[in-house]
Amino acid sequence: MARKPFIAGNWKMNMTVATGTQLIKDLAPLVKDANCDVALCVPAILVPAMTEAAKGTNIAIGAENVHWAASGAYTGEVSAAMLKDYGVKYVIIGHSERRQYFGETDETVNRRVLAALSAGLTPIMCIGETLSQREAGETEAVITRQLDTDLQGVEDITKIVIAYEPVWAIGTGRTATDEQAEETIAFIRRRLAEMYCPKCAEQVIIQYGGSMNAGNCKGLMAQPDIDGGLIGGASLKLDFAKIVNWDK
Ligand code: 13P
Repeated sequence: MARKPFIAGNWKMNMTVATGTQLIKDLAPLVKDANCDVALCVPAILVPAMTEAAKGTNIAIGAENVHWAASGAYTGEVSAAMLKDYGVKYVIIGHSERRQYFGETDETVNRRVLAALSAGLTPIMCIGETLSQREAGETEAVITRQLDTDLQGVEDITKIVIAYEPVWAIGTGRTATDEQAEETIAFIRRRLAEMYCPKCAEQVIIQYGGSMNAGNCKGLMAQPDIDGGLIGGASLKLDFAKIVNWDK
């Protein structure tokens, strides 16, 4: 079965109830005939208002992180059950900004992935190399290490979305070329085939993320292994609709 493309936004620490609600109102008619799944991952505190704003549209709401414990003394954290309460469907896990600025490791990414799965959330699990790792020729080794640890104990790989986000392409305006993105995403799929089974790997949605925009989305989406995008900056404006409608 062909994989259904999936375009998701990552608002990061942007928007308010008012600006977010307005954007969803404006986007809804522009994306309603999309041939792909559409989601916006928003700051946890905006989840209630944005799920309300997105009601009756084809825009699913996701979160940007989730804690691994069901409850407890984890000041400032949000559990999977709390997200489920508001009908959240997706959750970004292991974004490079979380790894870089908040000390997240492959081990904690793995725990979050397992918690999200057992609560019925779909993780959008982010992996990717830094510029120095790419320049040192370590991209495949880094990706392999991340997949091995981040996916430990995950039985059904088809329940996970993977976002390949080369760190050097995030927020820099320096997108990976179509060929670079395809090459690494095809590598990820081959690695998943080894870890699971070829048929399972064929079903996994793998997004590209990193300075993807209305101008470069067509070329990226035309690559055989690229099934979608995780969009940062361009998801904060109506350009997001152009990416969602890349095929029109
Ligand atoms: P930009 O699209 O702003 O480069 O961000 C990509 C990203 O980090 C999505 O998670």
